[in-house]
Amino acid sequence: MSTLDETIRSLSRESLPRHVAIIMDGNGRWARHRGLPRSAGHYKGVDSVRVITEMASDIGLEYLSLYAFSTENWSRPQEEVDTLMHLIGMAIENETPALLRNNVRLKLVGDIEGLPAEARERLERSSRRLEGNTGLTLALCLNYSSRWELSRAARRIARDAAEGRLDPEAVDSGEIERRLSTFPMPDPDLLIRTGGELRISNFMLWQAAYTEFCFTPTLWPDFDKLSFAQALLQYRGRERRFGKTSEQVKRQDTKTSI
Ligand code: IPE
Ligand code: IPE
Ligand code: MG
Repeated sequence: MSTLDETIRSLSRESLPRHVAIIMDGNGRWARHRGLPRSAGHYKGVDSVRVITEMASDIGLEYLSLYAFSTENWSRPQEEVDTLMHLIGMAIENETPALLRNNVRLKLVGDIEGLPAEARERLERSSRRLEGNTGLTLALCLNYSSRWELSRAARRIARDAAEGRLDPEAVDSGEIERRLSTFPMPDPDLLIRTGGELRISNFMLWQAAYTEFCFTPTLWPDFDKLSFAQALLQYRGRERRFGKTSEQVKRQDTKTSI
């Protein structure tokens, strides 16, 4: 049996996170190392998305969030932005039959209305086709950033209060959460960042309050099933305390979210 099979077999369902989020970074460097244009890295990155989504679905994860384009990524050269927008729309369209077969649902997270019409229409069409599915929820985070999302939540709260639908004294974390783009998904249990950078780049700042982090130097196009299984194994070894003591947690023997 291969190392991969052994590793996957050792991941029992109880020790799996419900929600894994990934900052897919390193496409540009992957291409540069090969003397290729950055776009080649983005194209190769789509293969990793397919492989990791398939594995997430096979092992029974409930949610997989993928950071595909940040609000800050608009500052890249126009040609790269155009390539990414075209690629995202095309990839989701091509992958939809496989996602349908694998019972995967698609959730679009971020300022989707701010995407070019072609990409938006393709994404929304796929999302409608997959809405009856009941397996893994794949959350594609596009034109997303936490500061955008939290500013929008603040605007919505202010509007609701000004129009008398919400008592300002009743604003608590639940009221904020209900106005986030990720709602109603649970917070990520595990956040993986590929590509070696040790930062969060405006991703799920609110939702990651108690998330476990896994940073790997592996570039996204090289991130494969074994890399994913290794991250899940790292997660299994973590003790999530949510502010409690280790002794309390051991007595409770729970790894579930607060
Ligand atoms: C991640 O890879 C993809 C996006 C941000 C869209 P990068 O394009 O950031 O790759 P590097 O970090 O330049 O290697
Ligand atoms: C984070 O990667 C955004 C995505 C993966 C979509 P970046 O490459 O944009 O992050 P920074 O600029 O290095 O922080
Ligand atoms: Mg990058």
